[in-house]
Amino acid sequence: MFNNRIKIKQLLAEQPKGRQVTVMGWVRTFRNNQFIALNDGSANNNLQVVVELGQYPDEFLKRITTSAALKVTGVITESLGKGQSIELKATEIEILGDSDAEKYPLQPKKHSLEFLREIAHLRFRTNTFGAVFRIRHSLAFAVHQFFNDRGFIYLHTPIITASDAEGAGETFKVTTLPFDKTPRAENGTVDFSADFFGRPTNLTVSGQLEGELGATAFGDIYTFGPTFRAENSNTARHLAEFWMIEPEMAFYDLEDNTNLAEEFIQYIIKYAMEHNAEDLEFLRMRLLDEEKTKPQAERSELDLVQKLQFVTENKFERITYTEAIDILLQSPAYKKKKFQYDVKWGIDMQSEHERYLVEKHFKKPVIVTNYPKEIKAFYMRQNDDGKTVAAMDILAPGIGEIVGGSQREERYDKLVQRMEEMQVPAEELWWYLDTRRFGTVPHAGFGLGFERMVQFVTGMTNIRDVIAFPRTPKSAEF
Ligand code: 4AD
Ligand code: MG
Repeated sequence: MFNNRIKIKQLLAEQPKGRQVTVMGWVRTFRNNQFIALNDGSANNNLQVVVELGQYPDEFLKRITTSAALKVTGVITESLGKGQSIELKATEIEILGDSDAEKYPLQPKKHSLEFLREIAHLRFRTNTFGAVFRIRHSLAFAVHQFFNDRGFIYLHTPIITASDAEGAGETFKVTTLPFDKTPRAENGTVDFSADFFGRPTNLTVSGQLEGELGATAFGDIYTFGPTFRAENSNTARHLAEFWMIEPEMAFYDLEDNTNLAEEFIQYIIKYAMEHNAEDLEFLRMRLLDEEKTKPQAERSELDLVQKLQFVTENKFERITYTEAIDILLQSPAYKKKKFQYDVKWGIDMQSEHERYLVEKHFKKPVIVTNYPKEIKAFYMRQNDDGKTVAAMDILAPGIGEIVGGSQREERYDKLVQRMEEMQVPAEELWWYLDTRRFGTVPHAGFGLGFERMVQFVTGMTNIRDVIAFPRTPKSAEF
């Protein structure tokens, strides 16, 4: 029977002195043949297990190595040592799983994040990744809480689709056709009628289009699932497989949409601050440590927790794309030719431009609205100026774009015309167009990149360190 165990998180919170308990976990360190730091993943802190001298023979104690799995029964007592207020006086120790200390790749010392990525199957057992993934869990839970409280329906949109929602052509193909003998039509093209679905299919890049179908029946829906993009960007902010949250709301315009996005982001950050204080404190200290290696000028003014507090307590800045470009053109960085990429109205802002706006100019999250239609997707609502669409991106300090969204083009004729201009095949999206034919309504939605959000909250600089098993160009281990 294993389920009489108590989690260390609970013990540390309740401190039931004098009580006999059973804990199970993995050894982090074993000092002086006497003090075991045991971690069971429920919390960042370890439980100190005290082994009485002479209680066990040496051969047994030798097996208490880093990462060995133990079952320990004992009595909780007040700790006289530094660093913890309670400890467990062991009366019975069982080694559930040995761990060969010579071969175990994680040593009780600081490892680089790059090295830990190579052993991603074990990195959950470090303090840093323990903290990151408990926070990731909390954020995911808060996402559901937020939308459920507001009456949104969680819609599971398909992973395999026949559409490229963003029209960017960055899809992973899904096929069962043999590579060596692909069936060909007479003109030499691949004959997809012989394929599993009888047509070309791909992994979804976004659940939005299906989400809109849900919104025009339920009113408010959200999706939360994996999305896939074959963009060959080897950056600290791009994954080939990432999780996205996409709410879609009927009877919403662009302003309603931005208000919801802001409230949502602030809510989930607050949730993590309330439920993961200890993990955030660990990451705060970790970042302070890291910053010490940087020159004074590059260090952040706020620490991690102060930054999160600031974001939850202050309104995001709201500017139009046109205003954003003006700010960039007026900036000392532009005048001193510090930007690598040129700035003029119509450009798709590069990360250096977004970071300038957020980190240098406003020093807070910025919502940029009304982008040129040429650089945005076909489904965005066209503004009366004929040049821009009712789009919004939210840019976050240290991350750049964290949310992309828009009011949708609900007018059938305008939508079809835009699809033609952008060569989006209307006949394949007949089902999408149907919503505009049968009771169309103003509606809007957005997509939050979940890993970028986790990066923001944990302060992890590389997106590969906030998803369990990152998929990036040339890398799909584990
Ligand atoms: O701006 P994007 O491409 O928007 C959409 O997909 C819309 N369909 C969303 C909607 O309106 N329902 O992507 C949304 C967000 C980005 O702001 C970014 O945070 C994240 O998804 N994202 C990525 N995250 C990690 N790796 C990538 N390759 C990402 N591409 C986008
Ligand atoms: Mg975008």
